[in-house]
Amino acid sequence: MEIIVQPDSQQASWLAARLVRKLILEKPRPVLGLATGNTPLQLYKYLVKMHREEGLDFSQVITFNLDEYIGLSPDHPASFHNFMWTNLFNQINIRPENVHIPDGLAPDIPACCEKYEQQIKAAGGIDLQILGLGTNGHIGFNEPSSSLSSRTRLKTLTDQTRKNYAVFFGGEENVPFHAITMGIGTILEARTCLLMAFGKKKARAIALAVEGPITASVPASALQLHPRAIILLDREAASELKNLDYYRWVFEHKPEWQKI
Ligand code: F6R
Repeated sequence: MEIIVQPDSQQASWLAARLVRKLILEKPRPVLGLATGNTPLQLYKYLVKMHREEGLDFSQVITFNLDEYIGLSPDHPASFHNFMWTNLFNQINIRPENVHIPDGLAPDIPACCEKYEQQIKAAGGIDLQILGLGTNGHIGFNEPSSSLSSRTRLKTLTDQTRKNYAVFFGGEENVPFHAITMGIGTILEARTCLLMAFGKKKARAIALAVEGPITASVPASALQLHPRAIILLDREAASELKNLDYYRWVFEHKPEWQKI
């Protein structure tokens, strides 16, 4: 794992945007895995800015989102469909047919999950998977106890996750109980995983995921098995890491060819 600590979430998001831009400029049909939530918002703002100001071209980009609530229509204000179109897709030149988000209204959920896996394969796999981190260590909606080799499937959200998302639904009682999420096994097949976490409330989960044992109780700890996982943090999220000085030293002394 490469652990990168930036002074704040803005600078960390700028670094993430540069990584995405590099992939788009270098690969003819880049495949991005995307997350929703507060964490990637600034990254998406930078990508929109790069599109507007530098002409960064998204016309060949294919995307797969991590998850979607079950029972929400795409135009529900709290759906991840709505989040993605509002915060990114409507503001760049992506082709609608290249956008993939699990269908929360699918009549046959297992078939829909299987099709999602096949679509990822047909696209050649995910080049760069953006991830946020739940305060309970989840990635996607793989809650603690998720199998580390799980595939796209239905998951039941924990109380803590439903509390964290209550603000988007005008109260916890309105938050769905179930979601479709890419599995941890699905996520680990991405060629690069980029986990972003900002703020003090993520510090404990980061310390467990990065320096604790690999365990289904902390789903993000599965990233320790990934050959190219980048953990991008602000100072607060990094504040409980024991080997912080080492991570800083590594980043500051990267050989020229490795720099982002
Ligand atoms: C969202 C997702 C979740 C979030 C996580 C953190 O698509 O998969 O794992 O990344 O719950 O959410 P924020 O960024 O709002 O703290």
